[in-house]
Amino acid sequence: MSTGLFDTDFQTDTLMDAFDADDFEARRQTLMEKIGRGSALVVTANPVQTRSNDTHFPYRPASDLLYLTGFEEPETVLVLAPGREDGAYVMFVQPRDEEAERWSGRRPGPEGAEQQYGADEAFSIEAIDEELPDILAERETLYYTFGRDESFDERIIDLLNALRHRRNKPPAAPNSVDDARDILHDMRFQKRPEERDLMRRANQITSEAHVLAMRHCRPGIQEYELQSILEFHFQRCGANFTAYPSIVGSGDNATCLHYTDNDDRIDEDDVVLVDAGCELDYYAGDITRTFPASGSFTSAQRDVYQAVLDVQERIIESIEPGRPFEALQEQTVELIVERLLDLELLDGEADALIEDDAYKTYFPHKVGHWLGLDVHDVGPYYTEDGASRPLEPGAVLTIEPGIYIPESDEDAPSDMQGLGVRIEDDILIAPDGYENLSSRCPKSVDAIESLVGTSAPLLETDDILGPQ
Ligand code: GLY
Ligand code: MN
Ligand code: MN
Repeated sequence: MSTGLFDTDFQTDTLMDAFDADDFEARRQTLMEKIGRGSALVVTANPVQTRSNDTHFPYRPASDLLYLTGFEEPETVLVLAPGREDGAYVMFVQPRDEEAERWSGRRPGPEGAEQQYGADEAFSIEAIDEELPDILAERETLYYTFGRDESFDERIIDLLNALRHRRNKPPAAPNSVDDARDILHDMRFQKRPEERDLMRRANQITSEAHVLAMRHCRPGIQEYELQSILEFHFQRCGANFTAYPSIVGSGDNATCLHYTDNDDRIDEDDVVLVDAGCELDYYAGDITRTFPASGSFTSAQRDVYQAVLDVQERIIESIEPGRPFEALQEQTVELIVERLLDLELLDGEADALIEDDAYKTYFPHKVGHWLGLDVHDVGPYYTEDGASRPLEPGAVLTIEPGIYIPESDEDAPSDMQGLGVRIEDDILIAPDGYENLSSRCPKSVDAIESLVGTSAPLLETDDILGPQ
């Protein structure tokens, strides 16, 4: 198996290189069959966000648009109009502009949208008010999600009103406006083979980064130094972003669930919780590992770590298609409560502790979430009749139990205060069970203790420029 490092297979310029044009075509066809002839679907890009003055936050395309087109540019509108005479797949995109491209990078333009992205017809975004009414006229249903982009919402309302009151022509506006997210997100929920491959690779790079962080950890290092090692590895492997802000929490910081300051010194006695994942060609990895800064757990730290690991492994082993998501959550809570009683963090009857939510003091979140183009990916957790959704082959979810004991918890044993442990893997549901995509990221006590601190330190900053 490839190591990932400097492997050109991992370094794709665009999502179109990661997938075949046929993959996108198949997705659009499936969606169009589901919405039916006589309707049209409109999907818009994410807006560009200003960071300050004329600089912008790194641009992240909207996942729905990526899924259907692979097109990564802002100011894009996709229209799917099944049965349209001049072609069902229409794009409105930024026009080519030599001056703008000189400053901000190349644009495919309408020509590129047709030639590289396979659009049947592509226009400049500036032509949308002129062209879109003709595409929507005489369609029964418009699929459009209101509430994502206020200014485009207004445009759609104006356009519908204009179609209803056309001069010189009979009114021809869609009778209903519906939301295609349920249909589209149901498709995104089940990962296709080409998406599974990307998620395997995202997990490989993420696993490597976690091992690097363990190997470079030593008492006295700053949390942000470990963050930089993780993210350095993501970037050198061609991953375009982190899938979410990296969490590197030592000691009590690990008890804050979404701690991202990452600006404390890691002390000798600290346990470090690292929750970080790369986004490779827009697909997320989401792994958490927890390890002792010194390379050896204290006995109390090991007990808590082993408790979380036992629960995590038991839940992963229980995974099979058909098992409802809620059953995983309930079993996790039961197992965590058993362990919290053993650790003397809780006291009382297990049933009552569950009934009263007493366990939430130490385990306040869910066992996991769907994973894909978004780290907290689309797809409902309940079926239409209100039942918990059964696991389906092709779905990917995280399994991430934890126990968090804040320093301020004077009821907890003193040698456990200021300790947070979470262990998180990414699991693909298979027809006969599951595949643990993060299985190569070490997590047994022995494996992680033998890794921590084993890399030579990076050059100290004082040594880089040499003596003055
Ligand atoms: N890192 C966010 C999560 O694990 O859900
Ligand atoms: Mn995570
Ligand atoms: Mn997660």
